[in-house]
Amino acid sequence: MGLRRSDSAARLFLGFLVLSMAPLSIHARFVVEKNSLRVTSPDRIRGTYDSAIGNFGIPQYGGSMAGNVVYPKDNQKGCKEFSDYKITFESKPGALPTFVLVDRGDCFFALKVWNAQRAGASAVLVADDMAEALITMDSPEEDGSTAKYIENITIPSALIEKSFGETLKKAYNSGEMVNVNLDWREAVPHPDDRVEYELWTNSNDECGVKCDMLMEFVKDFKGAAQILEKGGYTQFTPHYITWYCPEAFTLSKQCKSQCINHGRYCAPDPEQDFSTGYEGKDVVLENLRQLCVFKVANDSKKPWVWWDYVTDFQIRCPMKEKKYNKECANAVIQSLGLDVKSIEKCMGDADADSDNRVLKEEQDAQVGKGSRGDVTILPTLVVNNRQYRGKLEKGAVLKAICSGFEETTDPAVCLSGDVETNECLENNGGCWRDKSANLTACKDTFRGRVCECPLVDGVQFKGDGYTTCEASGPGRCKINNGGCWHEARNGHAYSACTDNGEVKCKCPPGFKGDGVNSCTDIDECKERKACQCPECSCKNTWGSYECSCGGELLYIRDHDACISKTATRETRSAWAAVWIILIGLAMAAGGAYLVYKYRLRSYMDSEIRAIMAQYMPLDSQAEVPNHVNEEQRA
Ligand SMILES: *[C@@H]1O[C@H](CO)[C@@H](O)[C@H](O)[C@H]1NC(C)=O
Ligand SMILES: *[C@@H]1O[C@H](CO)[C@@H](O)[C@H](O)[C@H]1NC(C)=O
Ligand SMILES: *[C@@H]1O[C@H](CO)[C@@H](O)[C@H](O)[C@H]1NC(C)=O
Repeated sequence: MGLRRSDSAARLFLGFLVLSMAPLSIHARFVVEKNSLRVTSPDRIRGTYDSAIGNFGIPQYGGSMAGNVVYPKDNQKGCKEFSDYKITFESKPGALPTFVLVDRGDCFFALKVWNAQRAGASAVLVADDMAEALITMDSPEEDGSTAKYIENITIPSALIEKSFGETLKKAYNSGEMVNVNLDWREAVPHPDDRVEYELWTNSNDECGVKCDMLMEFVKDFKGAAQILEKGGYTQFTPHYITWYCPEAFTLSKQCKSQCINHGRYCAPDPEQDFSTGYEGKDVVLENLRQLCVFKVANDSKKPWVWWDYVTDFQIRCPMKEKKYNKECANAVIQSLGLDVKSIEKCMGDADADSDNRVLKEEQDAQVGKGSRGDVTILPTLVVNNRQYRGKLEKGAVLKAICSGFEETTDPAVCLSGDVETNECLENNGGCWRDKSANLTACKDTFRGRVCECPLVDGVQFKGDGYTTCEASGPGRCKINNGGCWHEARNGHAYSACTDNGEVKCKCPPGFKGDGVNSCTDIDECKERKACQCPECSCKNTWGSYECSCGGELLYIRDHDACISKTATRETRSAWAAVWIILIGLAMAAGGAYLVYKYRLRSYMDSEIRAIMAQYMPLDSQAEVPNHVNEEQRA
């Protein structure tokens, strides 16, 4: 019981921390990004009305969209699937897209938009259900079921005032064609030829759907961000939110595990569980490190390296592999050619009971100024000091940034969306490489450089792409000996690469060692007790040995023994016996032939004699009549 109570106390406390976030200003100030919605017909209600862009879907920053308003007969709140009511908003080819008007209430904004999108809507207008100032429609806090569809919302949506909603409904219900034009062209101010933008982010990679989405975005957007930055078109600044621990709690266990600098800078526990895994403090420290990576890179006029650092850190040092720590971070910093010492100096002392300069600036920046409200939601993107609304997705964000340039000053990347650089040229992009074999894991892609083990001559290399890549699968030994030891001497060549099995490098017989860096010759005479019979004399060679036997003896390697040569004579006599049998057989065959031949001839002789006897008297008469008689009888 005691345990459970303290657990729920911890939760409550966490809730308190989250609720009291950004507590530097007493009343958080939300600024609603408005864009204009223009009614083009019917004439009676022509004019421009305010609307607030939803915080999901893909708004067309810099563009506009014209459409026909439809107010469904049933399911007017859009909380159920429209197909249940046999309603579809698919517009016929050539017709204007459909703007579906739904009423606020009963379910999440995002669900209404999702249902309308699935029924074929091109945009959604949500009519407020009470007379009040417009608010921003936010996506619901993710739980398993909502997260799935929010990801897939692509159509834009906007909240409109109750009275304007009534006007639209009345016109639609009286059978009039209601045409509107949603315009995002003024959504981002575009005063000059440089866009300033900032991303409020977090290094925590285990917070579920929102973290995954943020990491995906950073990876995708990196290429474009780096081009814009290198070309001087943008000035990007990353930001990190921290909370402070209320003074009364600074000495509590919870604050100690979530905060650094005596409760001044805190982050919620990544797993929301104080007993396991990483602590909020670990997140604050990594956030601070990422800020310092930016500062140090920015000071050396290479602010874009921050994008490489955060993406590499995500890949190489994830929490679930227990690598979310200083050692792993420093390895990434070094591979990017940044100075670890300067970054540590910038981070300062986390245990000091004093302000941290860098994090103090961040807390101050959290407070809204000008047209930007307080930053309380992660992630938040701010473009030209306006909060970006919509899905955090490469194309949509690029549109928003590009719409922030003064006309005709947009860089090429805004016009084509293409990204062309080769970041592998410098320091090999911080990726793995094997100089001797001229192999690299660095690939230049439209998303910026990625470190991926290469495919060479049909052989796939495997590894993290940063520090290791190894050839794997059949044929791996063809490439650089599969990274294993190999050496040739006096016309003999040996390789430790094995083509199959778990062990990749194994010294060949006659050698010992790790098989990767070295294999050394085994002195078989000494170490293996080879060739040790009394008559033997052993001589070690590289990779093998030679053994010779004294006197009449012969060395048999398979048995490592000397044997007498007489054994060989016996073998010979055995062969002789075989020969004798064979010759005997041949002679018997020849004899049989001769006998046959002889009998044939004697038969022939008697025949001839019988014939001749008919003409002349012969000495031996006795034989003849017999034969003739027989002849005649026949
Ligand atoms: C969202 O889109 C993905 C890919 O297009 C799809 O696999 C997934 O089923 C969709 N989710 C929902 C809830 O429709
Ligand atoms: C980055 O450097 C530029 C000048 O190169 C400077 O104007 C800017 O304030 C720096 N940003 C940060 C956050 O230090
Ligand atoms: C390394 O390989 C690349 C392409 O794979 C080639 O352009 C380059 O000339 C090679 N360098 C050396 C030293 O062989």
